[in-house]
Amino acid sequence: MTENLSHPADNIGFYRAFAHVYTAAYRDVDADETVRQWAQLLDRIEGMKESLTDDGLGADGRVPRLLDVACGPGWHLPAWSACGFDVWGLDVNPEMLSLAAGSISRHQMSAAHLVLADIREVPTAYLELHRRFDLATAHFNFPHLFSRQELVSALSGVAACLRPDGYFLFDFTPLPPTPPEPVDEFVDAGGQQLRLNGKFDDSLGCYVQHWSCQDLDTVEHYWFHGANEMREAIASAGMNLKCVLGWHPENHAAPWESPSGTSHRAMYVCHRLLQS
Ligand SMILES: C[S@@+](CC[C@H](N)C(=O)[O-])C[C@H]1O[C@@H](n2cnc3c(N)ncnc32)[C@H](O)[C@@H]1O
Repeated sequence: MTENLSHPADNIGFYRAFAHVYTAAYRDVDADETVRQWAQLLDRIEGMKESLTDDGLGADGRVPRLLDVACGPGWHLPAWSACGFDVWGLDVNPEMLSLAAGSISRHQMSAAHLVLADIREVPTAYLELHRRFDLATAHFNFPHLFSRQELVSALSGVAACLRPDGYFLFDFTPLPPTPPEPVDEFVDAGGQQLRLNGKFDDSLGCYVQHWSCQDLDTVEHYWFHGANEMREAIASAGMNLKCVLGWHPENHAAPWESPSGTSHRAMYVCHRLLQS
């Protein structure tokens, strides 16, 4: 049995316990296609490409630098590198970063950098050296990792890594009109059956998912946030919410819907304010 390290306020302990089955449980993720779709936004969002590049170079003559926040096993890093970015991955979990190192070496990326840090408290010395990211990305429901109280710290951490006028893209599942239904099912993780037992916890205000199998017994907290709450948290973190699009990843020909309409997943495009 693995010790349950999760504290309701964050999911760090959960991901430590879950890292060894993560890639098998989520093996359907198509990172190349996801990045292909997200990269379309560089052309689609007014002013974004101009801010990020100047004839393919960063604002001060560098190759534009991208930070993939909470990069997990790093499966989006090679695809972003192929788009022409100097790619950095940040995660708080050393096991996830070793998976990311494997992904980098398998793809023979010429350069990629991995940073072990909690995005809520990226060290000041590090920021003084590297506070130059032109673009930050966070794939796979980043805001759900954090309780309402922690969300501003997490977003402020991202903003602190961006240069003024830099952008932050993340996907997000908006708060459903009624709490999600309980589940009790098995998830195939490459031949290993993981039991997933989840239900909404009214007292915590989040969906609690209990994952178990022979060598796993851990709890994930999935925090939902409303659109207004997201907007306020982004502003408190010193960023401007440039737009919200609906994202339909399965519709390869037309994944974006503007405005976000009724789509189940949303893409938030944020912009670090020049003066913050
Ligand atoms: C849902 S996974 C997403 C991983 C990856 N982006 C993907 O698309 O598969 C969440 C990741 O966030 C990391 N994480 C959780 N809290 C974090 C924090 N406070 N700072 C940095 N990384 C964090 C976890 O270790 C885990 O790798």
